[in-house]
Amino acid sequence: MKEPFKASKVTDRVYWVGAIDWALREFHGYATERGTTYNAYLIVADRVTLVDTVKAPFMDEMLSRVASVVPPENIDYIISNHSEMDHSGALPAVIRQVKPEKVFASAMGCKALEAHFHMGNAITPVKDGETVSLGNASLTFVETRMLHWPDSMFSFFDKDGVLFSQDAFGMHLASAQRFADELELTLLEFEATKYFANILTPYAALVTNLLEKTKALNLPIRVIAPDHGPIYRRDLSWILDLYGRFAAQKPTNRAVVAYDTMWGSTDKMARAIAEGVTAGGGVPELFQMRKAHRSNVATALLEAGAFLVGSPTMNNMMFPTVADVLNYVRGLRFKNLIGAAFGSYGWSGEAVKQVEEILSAMEVELVSKSVSVKYVPTKDDLAQCHQLGAKVAKRLAEVCGE
Ligand code: FEO
Repeated sequence: MKEPFKASKVTDRVYWVGAIDWALREFHGYATERGTTYNAYLIVADRVTLVDTVKAPFMDEMLSRVASVVPPENIDYIISNHSEMDHSGALPAVIRQVKPEKVFASAMGCKALEAHFHMGNAITPVKDGETVSLGNASLTFVETRMLHWPDSMFSFFDKDGVLFSQDAFGMHLASAQRFADELELTLLEFEATKYFANILTPYAALVTNLLEKTKALNLPIRVIAPDHGPIYRRDLSWILDLYGRFAAQKPTNRAVVAYDTMWGSTDKMARAIAEGVTAGGGVPELFQMRKAHRSNVATALLEAGAFLVGSPTMNNMMFPTVADVLNYVRGLRFKNLIGAAFGSYGWSGEAVKQVEEILSAMEVELVSKSVSVKYVPTKDDLAQCHQLGAKVAKRLAEVCGE
């Protein structure tokens, strides 16, 4: 019978057999406006090997793609590079159906898979640097702990030079094209930035180590095959250099202004601050949090130099949407930011201090006393906001070495 879903050939012996999730718009707090793919790969060697699986509801799509190459029951080995459920959700059912001879994961991966699926330790652990023979080819494993889970590892397929990099070098982008060289560079850069900012920023220093470790291993990598988004088969340095740039988190002259407003006062303040940033030579980007998504603020912050946060006070607290974005970006542990707090209030005015405390906890260098306005800003108040923006731009020029 003709399979409704077809595999895509990546190299002589490797096929993409994943699933395209065109409808996904949310991924644990991250807005995936362009959907995603769950990439799984089939290696057709003496030992037929499946690298990663897909999110559980997409198992039939994956097995149909496998069946367009070989009967799924021919799979000898399964590799689990990462146990998060977008890649392992289908694993227990695939194991039941295919009955592979062995399933491999890192030692931490074995523990994580057991804690997820309670299969009675059915997984074989592999060590960092270990090689498993596939008969006429082999796979070498490279541990990538905390990139971005403790279990994460890469697998390298020697015969065709394919690095299966799980989440690293990935992006949330549903497309009919399988290869990065078939897609627009600006689109790729935006989605790769968004992915790194929202998933990998807390581990940015480890990315630098990983890039060095991979270089030192001298693996003849010809293809980078991540678990989300397109595959890199040409100009691998484009994505490797991009990761080097992201990991450095070098400040730029961009100022992210995240705020919300009750009756328009904090909005007026944010817009006056933006004018001041521009006048000082910086580039502001404003996000009003009832209309913007927290993950887009994170994306902008990855390559910004300043973070200004504004909130009205409501019931002695900062506005809920401002608390949401601060909670999110604080967890992502951005580095090398300067900033300030601002906001309006009616009688008690605690919000600005609360924002300032969180910015300090994030190690944001506060360049100025916060600006707080009672009810509605006067012309003088807005001039003060403008000055705050200009001061931020001046400090940005200093930290960027302009
Ligand atoms: Fe794509 Fe960390 O899962």
